[in-house]
Amino acid sequence: MHHFHYSQGGLFVEDVSLQSLAEKHGTPLYVYSKGTITSHFTRLDAALSGLDHLICYAVKANSNLAVLATIARLGGGFDIVSGGELYRVIKAGGDPRKCTFAGVGKTREEIAYALDQGIYCINAESEAELRHINQIAGELGKKAPVAVRVNPNVDAKTHAKITTGKSENKFGVDFENILDVYARAAAECQHLELRGLQMHIGSQLTSVEPFVEAVRKVVPLVQEVKARHGIQFFSIGGGIGINYRQSLDSGPESWWQENENLHPLTIQAYADAVTPLLQPLGLRILCEPGRFMVGNAGALITRVLYEKRGAAKIFKIVDAGMNDLIRPTLYEGWHQIVPLKQPATGEVEKADIVGPICETGDFLAQNRELPPVQAGDYLAVLSAGAYGFTMASNYNTRPMPAEVLVDGAKATVVRERQTLDDVLKGERVE
Ligand code: LLP
Repeated sequence: MHHFHYSQGGLFVEDVSLQSLAEKHGTPLYVYSKGTITSHFTRLDAALSGLDHLICYAVKANSNLAVLATIARLGGGFDIVSGGELYRVIKAGGDPRKCTFAGVGKTREEIAYALDQGIYCINAESEAELRHINQIAGELGKKAPVAVRVNPNVDAKTHAKITTGKSENKFGVDFENILDVYARAAAECQHLELRGLQMHIGSQLTSVEPFVEAVRKVVPLVQEVKARHGIQFFSIGGGIGINYRQSLDSGPESWWQENENLHPLTIQAYADAVTPLLQPLGLRILCEPGRFMVGNAGALITRVLYEKRGAAKIFKIVDAGMNDLIRPTLYEGWHQIVPLKQPATGEVEKADIVGPICETGDFLAQNRELPPVQAGDYLAVLSAGAYGFTMASNYNTRPMPAEVLVDGAKATVVRERQTLDDVLKGERVE
């Protein structure tokens, strides 16, 4: 579901022309649709209505304050992985009592901060971490709400770099050891409250089977942990994949229907498959979607600087690089790229869309059929709302792009483009 569409010969997001935004704010530019985010949240919320559930949006996907505020106002909670993300959530008006804290390497400062803020749960990823949390809680005179992340050893059938639920991945505690870890924590860690159990098997899953396999495998364990320790919740993690091929001709509603046919994993199929397995637990179910909530809601707008017709290839050199969007080179991520000017004919040419960074891996697309575009034309790299800006860097001393949030006909700069002084801030010559 998304609100990007061609209208009056140009690409719009909601009621705003992307060309006008690019001309006003410059490029590279991230643009997000509030309507898309809202619609994804409410649809997932409705699909999970058969369960006592809480959506904890995975902040790492897109942590802009305006995005977080949008989700907080919808009643969402947050899945955070650092003290910094918790700080952002609080700044955006989010409620720490609806936050879970994941990650294998939480520091003392981060754990203390989360406890001070009254976090809903810290998801421990090892027994050593559990003991560390217990010690810090004791020092602070608090009881720390914790869950243990189980590694169910299930293949998520996604890209190797975003698979997390196999034994060889660094995440969670082995399935076989979970009951012992809970038993030792209950016996020896008096400053812990065993509040839940968590899992997350990977990201960009495009079929429902790995979710079902993992839930089926872990549910009996959850039942056992509930019986022994009286936990409140089971978190099934995030990972719902999105369709990276967006139809731009139909309105948002009809796109949603088209997508049901195109995309193997729909939220309805997901909810229909997991609800009957989870309902009998009688627990609160947490779900931690990141990409699903914001992926299709964002585009990276870039301008063609030059065209180079080489012996082997045509290169379209654009002003956005791998520092702005690293997914194509890091995960072989495929992002649809379209001109902001609606193509008049079906003519296409094959080209590599490359950035200005001095690396061969600096591309947004390779061997891509694209309507002919020339220097000065703008392109939109679609479905860049998740893991786009949050993974961007200052590599090659390139300032971070600006971000704009569109809501109907209103466009707000929700993060200013960095200046070079911003980039150099804090540095000094000896
Ligand atoms: N919960 C936990 C514990 C996670 O580690 C993650 C993502 C999520 C939830 C949210 O997963 P999602 O619903 O977004 O799939 N940078 C990569 C994706 C990394 C995902 C890391 N963990 C990419 O651009 O594809």
